[in-house]
Amino acid sequence: MNLLIKNIKQLVTVHSNGMPFKSGKEMRDLGVIENATILIENGLFKWIGRNAEFTQTVNENIDIIDASDLIGLPGFVDSHTHLLFAGTREDEFALRVEGKTYEEIAQAGGGILSTVQATRTATKKELKKLARRHLDTMLTEGTTTVEIKSGYGLNEKDEIKMLEAINDLTEECLMGIVPTFLGAHAIPPEFKNNSNGYVDLICTRMLPYIAQRKLAKFCDAFCDQEYFSVEQCRRIFKTAKPLGMNLKIHADQLTQIGASKLAAEMGALSADHLEQIDEAGIAALKQSGTIATVLPGVSFFLHCNYPPARKIIDNDIPLAIASNFNPGSCMSYSMSIMMTIACTQMSMTSEEAITASTLNGAAALGLSEVIGSVEVGKQADIVLYDIPSYQYLAYHFGTNHVAKVIKHGTYLDF
Ligand code: NIG
Repeated sequence: MNLLIKNIKQLVTVHSNGMPFKSGKEMRDLGVIENATILIENGLFKWIGRNAEFTQTVNENIDIIDASDLIGLPGFVDSHTHLLFAGTREDEFALRVEGKTYEEIAQAGGGILSTVQATRTATKKELKKLARRHLDTMLTEGTTTVEIKSGYGLNEKDEIKMLEAINDLTEECLMGIVPTFLGAHAIPPEFKNNSNGYVDLICTRMLPYIAQRKLAKFCDAFCDQEYFSVEQCRRIFKTAKPLGMNLKIHADQLTQIGASKLAAEMGALSADHLEQIDEAGIAALKQSGTIATVLPGVSFFLHCNYPPARKIIDNDIPLAIASNFNPGSCMSYSMSIMMTIACTQMSMTSEEAITASTLNGAAALGLSEVIGSVEVGKQADIVLYDIPSYQYLAYHFGTNHVAKVIKHGTYLDF
């Protein structure tokens, strides 16, 4: 189906200038076109420009959207989520409100391991049904591509079950989905006093099988005290890389043990979290070109310190924003709320937050040649908002302003 969108009041293209991402001051350059027209053919952007410059005659089978009064942005690319899970943890939310920390709750047997229990019990079909509901809502809120991690199985059978479910969803849903293997998310109860034994299992059995079946594009690991050490993560990454998997890492979230330096050393595509990143970590990321992915919803939800986004951007490190949707540390996938938090709590500008949630999110998934900006030849993922200007999006938070979503040329009206 071909589509002509005309009279877009303001079109935020986040044009990439042929680069895979934006960093430093470039993050503020959104390539805005006032009174714009877009032609979409075969799921791709075919023509983009000002209304007055569009002189082509279109054939009568084309669908036409009049977007007067609407603002267009690239679909959000949410590059870090744990969206596939069973069970919820509102009991932990109540404990935290009363003063318990995320770490204390995990040590008492809650946290990730409680979701592991529920997810192991659920069938693949049940997990997919739960995830589909989230994916459908995310699309209506402007997210058109999402990464989903395994990591609530923590044994061969259930990690594979999770990855198969994620891969099935890729086929069955309109949403763009990128699967990540996160076997090293927590030490499973069966290996409580033998974390090296679990790392052995990941390296000798899980990774080769997952790579052979191409079940995951990325290998991720939670590198932190009480989880996986730098040495253990290095071993996992050294196994995953030659198997053709790209790397991501949960770095510097709860404590500082040198995880972002490991990300740089191993050439990880992104280092995510960074609440505790230090000067050495910033210097390492700057050198390696690793994308710093910040998750504003986590600091907000857990009431802990924010990653130093301003400093990361000012050091010219490409920065992406993701939701980290999961039942423990951020029970929200609203990328526009993530942008608001990034602006109010992390001193990012609206323009930086938009770039971080679109083009740079795509770069954190190795997909910025295909998605993340409105440019001729790219996949037609565009969201039209009923707002007066693009700055309004982060400003008027907590309300869904989406009017229409176009994913790969397919049009959803709300
Ligand atoms: O990114 N840090 C590890 N994983 C998630 C939390 C997952 C959970 O609590 O279930 C995170 O914050």
